[in-house]
Amino acid sequence: MDHEPVLAREARDLLLPALEHGGVVVDGTLGRGGHARLILDGAPEAELVGIDRDPEALEACRTNLAAYSERVRFVRDDFARLSSVLERLGIAAVRGVLLDLGVSSPQLDEAHRGFSFRGDGPLDMRMDPTQRLSAAGVVNDYPVLELERVLRSYGEERYARRVARAIVRARPLSTTTELAEVVAGAVPAASRRTGGHPARRTFQGIRIEVNDELGELQRALPQVVDALEPGGRVVVISYHSLEDRIVKRFFNESAKGCVCPPDFPVCRCDAQASLRVITRSTVRPRSEEIERNPRASAAKLRAAERVSAEAAPLPGERKAS
Ligand SMILES: C[S@@+](CC[C@H](N)C(=O)[O-])C[C@H]1O[C@@H](n2cnc3c(N)ncnc32)[C@H](O)[C@@H]1O
Repeated sequence: MDHEPVLAREARDLLLPALEHGGVVVDGTLGRGGHARLILDGAPEAELVGIDRDPEALEACRTNLAAYSERVRFVRDDFARLSSVLERLGIAAVRGVLLDLGVSSPQLDEAHRGFSFRGDGPLDMRMDPTQRLSAAGVVNDYPVLELERVLRSYGEERYARRVARAIVRARPLSTTTELAEVVAGAVPAASRRTGGHPARRTFQGIRIEVNDELGELQRALPQVVDALEPGGRVVVISYHSLEDRIVKRFFNESAKGCVCPPDFPVCRCDAQASLRVITRSTVRPRSEEIERNPRASAAKLRAAERVSAEAAPLPGERKAS
């Protein structure tokens, strides 16, 4: 199954104003190139740097975006290494960045990747197959309290303690089916009747841990700001409340100028805003999109624009509020 891009038109429409005169746009989560194609169509002068840490995604995307090959550079790397990727390519500044977080449909659907409780595959879940930690490492080697933390924080699993203990008792586990059965057996029968497959939350938690998804996002955002030219835009689509919280906090902090107490006659902190938030609240998919593509249901989009140092108040000057 191919990947249907989520909030695709919304993301494109927020990025295009920054690409009117061309320039470089980075898709840090290229996947199957659904968003990238829309952006390339809408901004015929722009060039796109497409990053993905999954070699299978990049390979498929080279075919999907073959018609645009002169305007696309494919990079196998982590978006959390954006600065070094751009330096390697000799790109000093960009006009746009898109991050469409999480996993793609093909990653979930292909059993051999080990992401899904539905297919029978190895306990893998690595987006980058060369990294050391895989789901097997989390499932079979983490101390029970660490495992419980992963399931509770990243999986939002109410029964994290019961599930973590059941996993530890059943060790060693080697397949996704075995893991899904252990989780189903640990969750109380009453809760199994609601909320979808009982292993869904456990699988999500382990996936986020294996791929350090929150750490990657936290490391990437400051590099995105550094890379953007004034007027350049960043769009982030997240699927988990913890991801959205990281984006919201970062945008709000970056949009703050002076943080001196209100009774200071002049600014002493010299803090300058680097972003202007352009989505007042999160953008959510319409009900038609969720009906067509249930994977869109948790999606939240936020966007911001890089502001120039000149637009921010000068040191010693307080911005009028
Ligand atoms: C939700 S999919 C993106 C789908 C894409 N927008 C499309 O339209 O096909 C997320 C993709 O980002 C990649 N990815 C996730 N985290 C990454 C990271 N830290 N660095 C690079 N790629 C990452 C995944 O491998 C996956 O292919």
